[in-house]
Amino acid sequence: MGKPFAVSGKRSPRSPTAGGAGSSWKTTGRCLTFLLLLAAVAFPTVVLYRAVDHRHYSYRSLRSDLNASALLSDSDWLSEAAAQDTVELRLDKILQEASMEDKTVILTTLNSAWARSEGIDFSGEEYFMSNGYLEMMWRRIDFLRTILEMGYSFIFTDVDIMWFRNPLPNFYSDVDFQTACDHFFGNSTDLGNRANGGFNYVKSNNRSIEFYKYWYSSRERFPGHHDQDVFNTIKYDPFVTEIGLTMRFLSTTFFGGLCEPSRDLNKVCTMHANCCIGLESKLHDLRIMLDNWREFMSLPHNMKNSGIVSWRVPQNCSIAALFRTPSF
Ligand SMILES: *[C@@H]1O[C@H](CO)[C@@H](O)[C@H](O)[C@H]1NC(C)=O
Ligand SMILES: *[C@@H]1O[C@H](CO)[C@@H](O)[C@H](O)[C@H]1NC(C)=O
Ligand SMILES: *[C@@H]1O[C@H](CO)[C@@H](O)[C@H](O)[C@H]1NC(C)=O
Ligand SMILES: *[C@@H]1O[C@H](CO)[C@@H](O)[C@H](O)[C@H]1NC(C)=O
Repeated sequence: MGKPFAVSGKRSPRSPTAGGAGSSWKTTGRCLTFLLLLAAVAFPTVVLYRAVDHRHYSYRSLRSDLNASALLSDSDWLSEAAAQDTVELRLDKILQEASMEDKTVILTTLNSAWARSEGIDFSGEEYFMSNGYLEMMWRRIDFLRTILEMGYSFIFTDVDIMWFRNPLPNFYSDVDFQTACDHFFGNSTDLGNRANGGFNYVKSNNRSIEFYKYWYSSRERFPGHHDQDVFNTIKYDPFVTEIGLTMRFLSTTFFGGLCEPSRDLNKVCTMHANCCIGLESKLHDLRIMLDNWREFMSLPHNMKNSGIVSWRVPQNCSIAALFRTPSF
């Protein structure tokens, strides 16, 4: 995969592309909204990315569709339960079309702050640790549990992660839950690795479903905490061993970030703009990252191992930020 693509909010094309998918998308869009509402998930955009042929699906006008009156007038003849069933069926259809042969989907979510260019001040830590933000992150965990319950495995990627290579060859096989790290200490089974919730590969089975339920319910034990902080606490809980969940931490060699960049551009799959406060700084460093990658890709083949191109990030993103805000 030579061409990098940023999985990012407004700039990547989002309309359904060639194939029969477009029309089915139109009919399913509204129902996806239902599900998101019923599941109390308020993401204005859900993107399912199909790696195989680069078709992707998105739903991005959720804001107007979140208009409750419009929704009610469409659905008032349905009982709530029936509506839920219909929604699940339609979502299942979307997932079917977006998934790979083994029922794996690539999934990302955008919150309204990312999708909108003005109106919200997301320059400070306040936004990221606000109640609204925390609530949204927790709803994401609950939504991902729904996906697992529907029998789909997923690769979840935050929108501020650049994908440079296909990650699939670098995943562990037969592992229920594998996650990228802010800091990786060299041993993939060591629970002391600092997980980052922005990139993970989760197989759908009873263990992963139980784990997501446990994770979500743990928010009540840690009020005011981010899903990722809670993960880094509950990963030690005996419950995880009891349900038999297998867990691995992915090396930053392949799945790096600004907290701990992947050192080898010959190996890197993804780079996350983590350890970064403020959208401007984040975009600044993401652009540098992309420039670095272009430089690397333009090297003649025999120069790619020379190490003459390395990351010039983080620049505006601050490593010190990590010690104030552990994630995002
Ligand atoms: C919501 O729906 C009402 C009635 O259908 C309409 O008047 C209003 O403009 C809508 N608001 C948005 C934000 O779409
Ligand atoms: C990796 O970590 C696990 C669990 O902490 C431990 O049992 C194992 O010995 C470690 N492996 C190495 C090579 O250090
Ligand atoms: C969960 O376990 C039940 C039986 O214990 C089984 O029928 C079902 O298929 C399992 N579900 C998944 C997703 O593995
Ligand atoms: C990045 O940092 C430089 C140097 O501190 C500063 O001049 C520039 O305005 C910053 N750019 C952004 C987009 O934050």
